[in-house]
Amino acid sequence: MKVRFAIIGCGRISENHLDGIKNAPHAELVAVCDVIEERARAAAEKYGLDRWYTDIKTMLECEKIDVCSICTPSGMHCECACTVADYGVNVLCEKPLEVTGEKMQKMIDCCKKNDVKLGAIFQRRTYDAAIKVKELIESGALGRVTLADASLKYYRDQEYYDSGEWRATWALDGGGALMNQGVHGIDMLSWIMGGIQSVYAKCDRLVWNIEVEDTAVVTVRFKNGALGVIQGTTTAYPGHDTIMSFYGSEGAISFGDDDIYTWALKNRDIEKPRVFGSMGGKNCQYSSTNYGHITQIEDMALSVLDDRDPMITGEDAKRSVDIILAIYESSKTGKEIVLG
Ligand SMILES: NC(=O)c1ccc[n+]([C@@H]2O[C@H](COP(=O)([O-])OP(=O)(O)OC[C@H]3O[C@@H](n4cnc5c(N)ncnc54)[C@H](O)[C@@H]3O)[C@@H](O)[C@H]2O)c1
Repeated sequence: MKVRFAIIGCGRISENHLDGIKNAPHAELVAVCDVIEERARAAAEKYGLDRWYTDIKTMLECEKIDVCSICTPSGMHCECACTVADYGVNVLCEKPLEVTGEKMQKMIDCCKKNDVKLGAIFQRRTYDAAIKVKELIESGALGRVTLADASLKYYRDQEYYDSGEWRATWALDGGGALMNQGVHGIDMLSWIMGGIQSVYAKCDRLVWNIEVEDTAVVTVRFKNGALGVIQGTTTAYPGHDTIMSFYGSEGAISFGDDDIYTWALKNRDIEKPRVFGSMGGKNCQYSSTNYGHITQIEDMALSVLDDRDPMITGEDAKRSVDIILAIYESSKTGKEIVLG
């Protein structure tokens, strides 16, 4: 049996959902919607649909849909998700879940009220190296972990920022180098380490002509007591590997988009995960095979068929955005912010 998916927002990331739905064994595409008709039509034609929509409600009224993938600008996720949930349809939302705490909570509450599932995309959590490192840290293989860092040094040019009116605005992108690009690495750091307790940050706009930050440094206290640093930017030409590093009394691991840089464990029996691209950057084979989106779309389909939670729930995805909101607050106030 196949779960019927529709896509709302046929821009850049919709390609990953269209391809993911095509390749997930328990998913099928039944409808697409974009306020820009040519985009909706192009997506429909490419994937063999003979109709397309420019209005979400019309699509929900005309089609039988089990799950809508929300691929609209970040600050529109709440509105789209609540419309979908009010029609009794499950939601799979792109990262970040939304751009304010209130709107994230509204989405979660609205899906609960309508008894529909709310799944969230953080595709890098499906990758081998990330899963293995999380398991090793949880099992104590690194001993007492004392330091964990995320180096998120990307490059986006002014042309990228000018390519969509919503980009790099507080209202619709919710932030810059951290909320848009860095959110993957911040989610991963927190997920692997078992949560972030507090942050102390400095964010700045140093190069690009945008509203939001293009550079940030954060010192982190994890819930397990370890300390860490997050560095994020979109100004580092030509763009660098996303590197996550973990150091403990029994070993150290550092991995990036394409490689495992450090694998130094006292216990030499522990095997390295396969190197198939680790984190999903532009050179990573995981990205080019769309592995993460296929895996999460299949999981969402199975969560509907088996009536269970999706692998990443709305509550779970909200925690990572809450960290970024706390970072912004810290930078604004000059104070350490403790997360709830
Ligand atoms: N998981 C990832 O790695 C990843 C990568 C890129 C983008 N994203 C996320 O995906 C989302 C979209 O980003 P993008 O780069 O594809 O943006 P985009 O601007 O390329 O596409 C967004 C599309 O949504 C459409 N849209 C806007 N309002 C709509 C509405 N009410 N109904 C229907 N369509 C509507 C726009 O016309 C546009 O075509 C963002 O939240 C972004 O953070 C995730």
